[in-house]
Amino acid sequence: MADDCRAAGGCDTHHHEERPQESNLLSKVAQTKASRRAFIKGVIASGAAMGASGYLFRAGEAQAQARVPGAVERLVSLKVNGQTRRVDVLPHETLANTLRYKLGLTGTKLACDRGECGACTVMANDSTIYSCTTLTHAVADREITTIEGIAKNGQLHPVQKAFIEEIGPQCGFCTPGQVISAVALLKANPKPTVEEARRAMSGNLCRCGSYQQYLAGVMRASKEI
Ligand code: FES
Ligand code: FES
Repeated sequence: MADDCRAAGGCDTHHHEERPQESNLLSKVAQTKASRRAFIKGVIASGAAMGASGYLFRAGEAQAQARVPGAVERLVSLKVNGQTRRVDVLPHETLANTLRYKLGLTGTKLACDRGECGACTVMANDSTIYSCTTLTHAVADREITTIEGIAKNGQLHPVQKAFIEEIGPQCGFCTPGQVISAVALLKANPKPTVEEARRAMSGNLCRCGSYQQYLAGVMRASKEI
């Protein structure tokens, strides 16, 4: 009976429980949108998103890597994001492991760990490389750029802004690698065709299927550069 009254707009006879008002629901939707935008900005700027279980698993894997019998660390000076970072590196250590677990640059993601997905993409002297299949010692003489080094003086790179505008990231896990590939492309070819951009981004897989949004972001950024 009470529901019938409510459907008819309420009455003075029955006690009607408070239900979430439409305005409350709308404000919740607005909050969700705002927090999603904040999430995307975090991902874009520093690659802050991560799959927690994968992250912990990989940390254990990195420790296991350190237990290879007879392996001895050697001190190297790495140039990362414009800074010289001195770090002890094993002979068989990958750049992804050095960046993430020794230098704390966790914006670079590890997913397949076998050169297939592009999540770990970084730049070495402006060329993109998969850091999961690159030995750290092999690039000790190169300038490494990770997602943490893309924004300058608190200002997002045009690619980062364009990815936000086009709502490229969904879960955000692949985003740091996508940003790096797009930035490297536009350095080498500031005005790519759509087909050139598609080919340049083809080494970065996205499980969420945001390929069109990322591509649109690259083309939008190319107009700003
Ligand atoms: S984690 Fe390096 S290519 Fe997938
Ligand atoms: S945004 Fe989720 S994997 Fe690309």
